[in-house]
Amino acid sequence: MEKGQMLYEGKAKRLYSTNEEGILWLEYKDSATAFNGEKKATIEGKGQLNNLITSLLFERLKEEGIDSHFIEKLSDHEQLVRHVEIIPIEVVVRNTAAGTLAKRIGLKEGLRLKHTIVEWYYKDDDLGDPLINEDHISLLGLAEPEELTLLKEKALEINRVLTQFFQQIEVDLIDFKLEFGRDKDGSILLADEISPDTCRLWDSKTKQKLDKDVFRRDLGSLTDAYQTVFTRLGGVSS
Ligand code: C5P
Repeated sequence: MEKGQMLYEGKAKRLYSTNEEGILWLEYKDSATAFNGEKKATIEGKGQLNNLITSLLFERLKEEGIDSHFIEKLSDHEQLVRHVEIIPIEVVVRNTAAGTLAKRIGLKEGLRLKHTIVEWYYKDDDLGDPLINEDHISLLGLAEPEELTLLKEKALEINRVLTQFFQQIEVDLIDFKLEFGRDKDGSILLADEISPDTCRLWDSKTKQKLDKDVFRRDLGSLTDAYQTVFTRLGGVSS
């Protein structure tokens, strides 16, 4: 497989074409951003850890029957993925109050929610990724109602599986963000990444934060936190 031209550069990843149709080359960068790009830093080793953790989680999800765009890990910071058109909706799943939910509706951080919450955000940097509802999604033509039903079902199933994985390594899955894409036949596939950049992960006993809040809130070494997650998941750095 040969790496082709760069198609897209995001805040945390670069996407390249390959010499094979429908297959893309994804490279994880060492950049960290928060608050819609207002806070920025380069953190050596972060791209690698996110690639390794995402690859491991997508493999585990596949074993549980949940397919994603992930094909294979190529190196410590690169993977091959299936080409999909990303649906511009960030699907956030929450088990425990934290972040913008805690702030928006006045819940104490750490409060276990009576039931899991699924939220939609419009993926648009210029607008700061606003929270939207089904009517906004229909108005903007982002997805069909049946697709939203499917996205919610998939998100809850992924939450069930991931919560169990993390429980086994004594980590609480507080909340996380998913992105989905459509392949050339219009089928919906889990895409993007699942890593400590896109999840809130707390040590089950100490409640220590093992995710991007370490960077957002200046709580110490981000790579130490991500390395802890990777090691507990059974990952071995090469
Ligand atoms: O900030 P907020 O509380 O809404 O985030 C909910 C979850 O979604 C967190 O795990 C956060 O890391 C993730 N998220 C993300 N990318 C965004 C917004 C939120 O990965 N653009």
